[in-house]
Amino acid sequence: MSKDFHALNRAHDQIADLDAQLLRRKLRTTQTACDIKANVDQRDLKAFCSNDYLGLANHPKLIEAMSEGAKRYGVGSGASHLISGHSIAHDLLEKKLAHFESAHIPDARALFFSTGYLANITAITGLVRLVDQGQASIYSAGLNHASIIDGVKLASAQSKASVFIFDHQNLDSLITQLKDDQNLLKLIVLDGVFSMDGDIAPVKELIAIAQTYDALLIIDDAHGFGILGKQGHGILEHFDVCSERIVYIGTLGKAAGVSGAFICASTPFVEWLIQKGRPYIYSTATPPAIAHALLASLDLIEGDEGTHRRQHLNQLIEIWRTEMNFKRWQKVESNTPIQPVILGSNANALAAAKLLDEAGYWIPAIRPPTVPAGSARLRVTFSANHHVDDLRELIRTLKEIEQLVIKDNLT
Ligand SMILES: Cc1ncc(COP(=O)(O)O)c(C=O)c1O
Repeated sequence: MSKDFHALNRAHDQIADLDAQLLRRKLRTTQTACDIKANVDQRDLKAFCSNDYLGLANHPKLIEAMSEGAKRYGVGSGASHLISGHSIAHDLLEKKLAHFESAHIPDARALFFSTGYLANITAITGLVRLVDQGQASIYSAGLNHASIIDGVKLASAQSKASVFIFDHQNLDSLITQLKDDQNLLKLIVLDGVFSMDGDIAPVKELIAIAQTYDALLIIDDAHGFGILGKQGHGILEHFDVCSERIVYIGTLGKAAGVSGAFICASTPFVEWLIQKGRPYIYSTATPPAIAHALLASLDLIEGDEGTHRRQHLNQLIEIWRTEMNFKRWQKVESNTPIQPVILGSNANALAAAKLLDEAGYWIPAIRPPTVPAGSARLRVTFSANHHVDDLRELIRTLKEIEQLVIKDNLT
């Protein structure tokens, strides 16, 4: 190591610090397609950790659609949407996504993005630009996803938007802060299904608050799209709501099994984001083959197969809720395929994840800053491809592992 290369020395020291605090993250490499059985670093494991909730990531129909899309459109889009990258596959996908949400958002239009991270950043930074600098307020929920947090920070830096954080699932805390706000534009932004807790935002009440205080409501339904609602249209279908105040964001790399995301809102908002959403304007369009595969995924989600897959998932969720009891570890109240188990310390979460790995399971420890300090956890997730027996075997194993961790006096 060179003595006077300060940045390199800092990198070594900072990583050593993370190691000491048990906070260093490590990559693991799979040899297999995303499914409930994974070969990870040359070992066969049962995966209960992906966001492929409907089990579509390795679905033969989607593999076929992706190949057909590549044959038809090639493998790259070649440019941003506004230059020459916007293909008929993108256009068809956006129309279909808008149709998915059309019962819930008047005059709905959708805009496709390469990732949910970019969609969130674009929506938040773009919408605050509807007013002059310093005239917008953003109300962001306490446990929001990192991409929302980063979008809020960027909007605050670029547009001098005021930022308020309200307590998780505490609408009084939101109302108290909104009451005296004189700013011209107010954005309320939050996860629809909270990514690390699995609980669902109270959308009906949030719409009423948005109406009372003349606010826009941005809902990031990354973990609800495909899962919630009879037809899998997401959280708005689940609550059967309709409002022009909603800016809906769905991701397409989780339950939809492919990749990408979309913003759906009343047409003027989407048209505005096409004009002013910098990450949208200055980024190469996703390969059209992906949009083509997503069209097939939306058909599956809406059709009978999607319905059956959601029903099976709900059966798994019910079994977990009734049969998974811990002595000291804590389950979180959740009706979604995200079922966290809170262990508290980083050491305990890492020890449990290691024991699970030895028992043939892939459920990584989730630690701060992804979750608040002192709430390190196992984030157990279900896929419609899991069998009931797979889940019952996991429940048995987790009970044994809790005993082992308690016996080793780690808890
Ligand atoms: C709540 C939430 N929003 C946004 C994202 C980002 O989506 P993407 O992975 O498509 O960038 C994620 C996930 O990773 C998420 O959990």
